Amino acid sequence: MHIEIVQNYEALSSKAASIVISQLILKPDSVLGLATGSTPEGLYQHLIKKYKEGLFTFKEAISFNLDEYLGLSAEHPNSYRYYMEEQLFKYIDIKTDNIHMPDGQATSSIEECLNYEDKIKKHGGIDLQILGIGRNGHIGFNEPDVDFKKGTHVVKLDAQTIEDNARFFDSLEEVPKEAISMGIKTIMSSKKIILLASGPAKAQILYDTIYGKITPKVPASVLQLHNDVTIICDEEAGALLINKQMEEKHV
Ligand code: PGA
Repeated sequence: MHIEIVQNYEALSSKAASIVISQLILKPDSVLGLATGSTPEGLYQHLIKKYKEGLFTFKEAISFNLDEYLGLSAEHPNSYRYYMEEQLFKYIDIKTDNIHMPDGQATSSIEECLNYEDKIKKHGGIDLQILGIGRNGHIGFNEPDVDFKKGTHVVKLDAQTIEDNARFFDSLEEVPKEAISMGIKTIMSSKKIILLASGPAKAQILYDTIYGKITPKVPASVLQLHNDVTIICDEEAGALLINKQMEEKHV
């Protein structure tokens, strides 16, 4: 794993953007795996800015998002489809036909999962996957005790995830309890992965992800087995990593 500890959220967002931009300059028809949540918002702002400056284009890019809440329509302000539109898509030239998100209102969610996985494969897999990380170690909505072998599937959200995401809803009760998520198998098949972590609440889980045991109890720990993962974190999220690196230097 390649670890980059940068000073603050702004530096994290800018570093992540430069990786995505170089990916799209070198391979304009890249398949991007996109994430939602607070962490990638700064990355998306940097991408929009550099796109508007004419540095690169999304004209040929293809996107697959990690997950979507079950039961929410694309127009629902808390759906991830809506988030992506507001945070990125409406400002760039990505083609609507090239945008892929699991349909949270599909008649058969099981079929939707199989189709989603199939579409990713048909596009040759994901070239660059962007990930955030939950305080419980989830990536996408792959919650603790995940089955590493699963592709896109229906997941039950962990109590901590529901609590963490309640800030986006009017009440805890309104947070959907289920979602469709790319599985660990889908994520691990990506050619390149960047994981972003910001703020003190992510410090312990980031440490466990990188230095802890590889275990379904910490879903992100599986990334230790991938051969091209870059972790970009700010100093707050990387606090325990900095301590560890200093200890190692003094041994
Ligand atoms: P956050 O969520 O970026 O809002 O902290 C990350 C995640 O749950 O994957």
